[in-house]
Amino acid sequence: MQDLAALERRTFAIISHPDAGKTTLTEKLLYSAGAIREAGEVRARGDRRRARSDWMAIEQQRGISVTSSVMTFERGGILFNLLDTPGHQDFSEDTYRTLTAVDSAIMVIDAAKGIEAQTRKLFEVCRLRNIPILTFVNKVDREGLSPFALLDEIAETLQLDVSPQNWPTGMGGLFHGLYDFAADRLLAPNGGEDGAGEWIDCDGLDDAKLDEYLPADAAQSLRDEAGLAQAAYPAFDLQAFRNGDLTPVYFGSALRRFGVEQLLDGLADHAPPPQAQPARPEPVRPDEPRVTGFIFKVQANMDPNHRDRVAFMRLCSGTLKRGMKLNVPRLGKPIAIHNPISFFARDRELATLARPGDIIGIPNHGTLRVGDTLTEKGDVAFTGLPDFAPEILRRVRLDDPLKVKQMRRGLADLAEEGVIRLFKPAIGSQWIVGVVGALQLDVLATRIEQEYGVKLGFEASPFEVARWPVASDAADLKRLSETHRDRMAEDQDRALVLLMRNDWEHGRFTKEWPGITFAAIRERH
Ligand code: G4P
Repeated sequence: MQDLAALERRTFAIISHPDAGKTTLTEKLLYSAGAIREAGEVRARGDRRRARSDWMAIEQQRGISVTSSVMTFERGGILFNLLDTPGHQDFSEDTYRTLTAVDSAIMVIDAAKGIEAQTRKLFEVCRLRNIPILTFVNKVDREGLSPFALLDEIAETLQLDVSPQNWPTGMGGLFHGLYDFAADRLLAPNGGEDGAGEWIDCDGLDDAKLDEYLPADAAQSLRDEAGLAQAAYPAFDLQAFRNGDLTPVYFGSALRRFGVEQLLDGLADHAPPPQAQPARPEPVRPDEPRVTGFIFKVQANMDPNHRDRVAFMRLCSGTLKRGMKLNVPRLGKPIAIHNPISFFARDRELATLARPGDIIGIPNHGTLRVGDTLTEKGDVAFTGLPDFAPEILRRVRLDDPLKVKQMRRGLADLAEEGVIRLFKPAIGSQWIVGVVGALQLDVLATRIEQEYGVKLGFEASPFEVARWPVASDAADLKRLSETHRDRMAEDQDRALVLLMRNDWEHGRFTKEWPGITFAAIRERH
């Protein structure tokens, strides 16, 4: 990616409730930027062919598949790094961690449904980190709620100022176009070479051109509604957006590509470039010369015969060059980055150079973990990568007792990868696994069977709640451990965990141990 080194970066994710249109929007963003010719097709570029075939050889040799986790594309002198977030709620933990690696997010809302549960949860994570959000209200080509109702719902449920950037003339069968406020132009849906509509420049909402392109009642209602909207909602304010207090709202249709380019323009013009990242002893600024980055995701190979992994690193500062050695403080030794992968559209290739904001895949044999810091020199530890207390706890049942060793190794490996939480009780030898969603248990059983040759089952655990006890006075923790040894366990990072039978017991502990916080989220160090 040498020729792209000097470009500005925008590193972002798309958050949405399943079915709101994230996949469709992703495809149309790539298409609009010219990165693919049509959905599913990757543009073949002569100059990249060689690099790509290098990578193909590594992929075949090591059996890694990392297809859709990151998609990089260039448009208008800006390099966009789009990080994929799994929509299924059982994998929300993976999504939360991915959000630690972005500087902005697009929130996709289905115009017929408004804010849904998963959107709201993901939004809260963005808010925790003050990630600026652009909103795309999708599917205006279908019947939906009124734009006013949608804007008010976003403002009220998310406690966020909303600033509409365009306005739909009706929805569903009555949809006749979009009016772009900033550029004063009308998108007439039936024009344009590729069916995505044609922009007609106007001289404000009173321009007679509106009457030419729209049916009389549609022109009138656009003038009334859009005029009202401009008066009722705040104008776009860059600072408020960057602070996470205001979201620009774009109405559109991912499927028909209406409003998608406007959204990309918004991302290019307003979304922040790579930001300083929280770290100890102090945040790392992107203009620092030394190379630093952190691992936010580890993806296992799809080939059962190999144990290779790809660790995804967000580069936070410096210029990464292929072959560089970076120190991993947790391991106390450096690793050489021989085959860093970059991700173009749906393709991947060997990266020769990467800049802050870029995402690099690092193939490894399980050395790198989620939360690891990599640094060229100096003492730095990125913070803020969350571990979430599991919502489901299960005891592991092993059918073949001769395989205890393999099972333990498999569980420990997958816990390190961040697929599950693993709790080793202080008393007794039966390990307990914790997951956020039930689907993770299926993935766990399948992978342990395929990769470690061990058949696992799960049975009810006596505990339903796990929390990390935190106290300013270490004596309190010692007393808790001694009094309730039958409740204590260690997680995969050897952090102390209290296992409780149910919410009621959780409430009782909270009351009886006022000096201790029973934390549901723990930062990885
Ligand atoms: P997700 O990744 O957020 O889960 O959503 P996805 O893009 O898969 O879209 C979910 C469904 O919504 C798909 O229909 C998709 O075609 C449809 N969709 C997305 N954007 C728009 C839009 O702007 N307008 C309309 N009318 N529909 C849209 P599906 O029937 O589930 O799948 P398919 O048969 O179309 O593939």
